[in-house]
Amino acid sequence: MNTINQQIEQATAAFRALLEEQLARQNEMEKGAVAKDFSKLSPIRVGICPGDGIGPILTREAKRLLEQLLKEEIASGKIELCDIEGLTIENRLAKGEAVPKETLAAIKACDVLLKGPTTTPKGGTMESANVALRRELDLYANVRPVTVPEEGIDWIFFRENTEGEYVLGSKGVELPGKLAMDFKVTTNAGTRRIARAAFEYAKNNGKTSVSIVTKANIMKKTDGNFSVLSHEIAKEYPGIEAEDWYIDIMTANLVNPAIRSKFQVFLLPNLYGDIITDEAAQIQGGVGTAGSANIGDRYAMFEAIHGSAPRMIEEGIGEYANPSSLFKAVEMMLRHINLTKKADLLAKAMEICTEKEKKVIVTGNRDGATAREFSDYLLQTLAAIS
Ligand code: IPM
Ligand code: MG
Repeated sequence: MNTINQQIEQATAAFRALLEEQLARQNEMEKGAVAKDFSKLSPIRVGICPGDGIGPILTREAKRLLEQLLKEEIASGKIELCDIEGLTIENRLAKGEAVPKETLAAIKACDVLLKGPTTTPKGGTMESANVALRRELDLYANVRPVTVPEEGIDWIFFRENTEGEYVLGSKGVELPGKLAMDFKVTTNAGTRRIARAAFEYAKNNGKTSVSIVTKANIMKKTDGNFSVLSHEIAKEYPGIEAEDWYIDIMTANLVNPAIRSKFQVFLLPNLYGDIITDEAAQIQGGVGTAGSANIGDRYAMFEAIHGSAPRMIEEGIGEYANPSSLFKAVEMMLRHINLTKKADLLAKAMEICTEKEKKVIVTGNRDGATAREFSDYLLQTLAAIS
């Protein structure tokens, strides 16, 4: 058994290595990257990863949706759908890798990815596949829209997706039996690029305000810099107001019907973005209704906002999972690859099925429809309005 001093030495050496690694990452980011131009790509390769738990059920339905909606594009070779194997918890544990090498290579051979949720074991050292993919593909903007039209709510969250509490979440240090420390990292280049993504979106979509949400009164270095740098970026966008908010009061604001519809674009560090987007999704009708885009300069990954729901599988109700979350992600993916008309068509069909007609309702339980029944309804609706 090491003495406490030896443990401190080891932890300090580990910390030094982390600092150097993160500095290298920041410097690399600072060089900047050129975003892929999807209008020039042919074919556009769409990878499909089923994932764990309810993931294979949801991706099965999303693939059917893509096959119908993109029939001509697939036939003409403009779009290629690629099934990607090996992103399962069993395979990841067997290989001891968050994303096994062959799977990562197959993913990198695609341009965009449609991904079912993956399971992350609590504790231990196995990193979340999501976190690993976001890092490996450098998917720095987690974009999550939430709308409640009857209340005038039209929110979009820009969650920083590659740093904060997540980047070293599996690399904390511990003096066993005494204490543990995890690290939160905010780099200047990492903050600037997510801030720019949020303000660019605001500018291009007629939004007049961006809410910067931190806990900069307490996390003075990381959140403090996030706020300061976001305001610096804001100066490049004169018509858009940048407001500072703390995460605690913002969670309260979202459940305050008197004021919540005034918020437009949210810009937040990773963990706050994770938590508050689940809250926002619940306001929209549940996490099963919210899609999520993970955008980088070279790759993009589209997924549901929620996890793999192992409890639904244990209870034998996996087939009753709501595929709407992944269908919303499909819509975001189509917009990202410039298939705007197809995205609009899907949005219209979803509006008919989930807001106007509501002939088939998924509740996430046996009292509701199955994922297959809902997607049959959606596909028929799509066919009818095409
Ligand atoms: C999300 C999820 C992930 C996260 C998990 C699955 C690692 O909750 O996409 O919001 O915490 O980012
Ligand atoms: Mg989450």
